[in-house]
Order: sequence, then structure tokens, then C-alpha cells
Amino acid sequence: MNIDFGAISGSIPYIIGGLEVTLKLVSMSALLGFIWAIILALFKISPIRPLNWLADFYTSIFRGTPLVLQLLLIYYGLPQFIGPIDPYWAGVAAFTLNSGAYISEVIRAGIMAVDKGQREASMALGVPYNQMMKDIILPQAFKNILPALMNEFITLTKESAIVTVIALQDVMRRAYQVGGDTYRFFEPILVAGLIYYILVMILTLAGKFVERRLRQSD
Ligand code: ARG
Repeated sequence: MNIDFGAISGSIPYIIGGLEVTLKLVSMSALLGFIWAIILALFKISPIRPLNWLADFYTSIFRGTPLVLQLLLIYYGLPQFIGPIDPYWAGVAAFTLNSGAYISEVIRAGIMAVDKGQREASMALGVPYNQMMKDIILPQAFKNILPALMNEFITLTKESAIVTVIALQDVMRRAYQVGGDTYRFFEPILVAGLIYYILVMILTLAGKFVERRLRQSD
């Protein structure tokens, strides 16, 4: 039993290189997932019942099955119908669809939590529904849900490691490869762990910073 980072030190830059894949994957999925979630949340609170059902059904499916299953279904299953898919886009699709389900619930809760008086006042002033949502309700909701959103982005960052199963060369996959090449798994996987931990710490700090800025405007 021994720990020897020297034995894998030559491979550490290779593992760190996976950050590019991890960051591209997470930022793209977070952005698309957030946009998708706003649409879903608006469906959920819409007065049109079938839209409620549709969005609820969607959420039940994507929250009710494992994310890794969704990823495998998209990457290995879908090509049966539409031909091969690039693993990066398969990852983005799975994370966007999955995260959208979770975030839509966060946004819905945030919208519901905005004081009823805001909606009543807008309606009394004759502000059209779309404008009321865009300029009055959603900005206030956003401030309240920021901590929950940060939670989701942190989850997404760590969950992105499952793209290892579709052979995307992200941080996790590279650490695993280095393990296979050198017969030392402990060290490279620890290095990957450290990289994820630092990423999450940066996200946490960024979230706190934005939160503080938003509170200043009160
Ligand atoms: N491991 C969980 C799953 O497979 C995590 C899902 C992602 N969670 C999230 N908040 N986006 O279902």
C-alpha cells in the first residue's frame, strides 16, 4: 500500500485538460436547461389545463428515471432512429432535458412565492400577461430562487461526470483512463475529485457574490 502522485504526475495535465469538456458540457446544459425550465414553468402555471398536464407529465418522466438511463437512451438508443449522435450533444441533450425538469419546479415555486399583490396590481393597471411575467414577476422570482438554482448548477457540475459511460473525455473519464494505463486508480481519481471540488467552490462563491449584489438593490 502506497500513495505516489509522482507515478501519475505526467498525466495530471491530461486530466486537467478534461476541464474543457466538463465546462463546455455544464455551461451549455445549464443555459439550455434554464431556458427550457422557464418554458416548462410557464406551462405549469398557465390557465390552460392541458399545458399544466403536459409539463407535469414531462417532469414526472425526467425526474422519475435515472439521469444515466436518459443519457444511455439518447446516446445508444436514439441512433436506432436518427443515426449516430455526437457524444457531446448527447450529453447536452440529457442534462438539458433532465435539469429542465428540476429547475422548472424551482422556478414554479419562485413564481408562486412572489406576493399576490404584484400580480393583482399589474392586472389592475392593465399590464398584459406576457409583460407582467417578463418585467414584474420573473425578476422577483429569480432573486428568491438563486440559492436553489446554484444548488442545481452544482449538482449538474458533479453529475456531468456520468458522461464517462458514453466515452466523452471529461475530467472523470480521463482520470479513469489514467488509472487503467498506470494500474494506479487512487491517485488520478483523487486528482479528479480535487478538480470537481474546486469547481464547486468557485460556483458557490460566484453564487454568493451574485446574491449579495442582488440584495444590495433592495
Ligand atoms: N443521480 C440523480 C439521477 O440520476 C441526479 C439527477 C440530476 N439531479 C438534478 N438535480 N438535476 O436521477
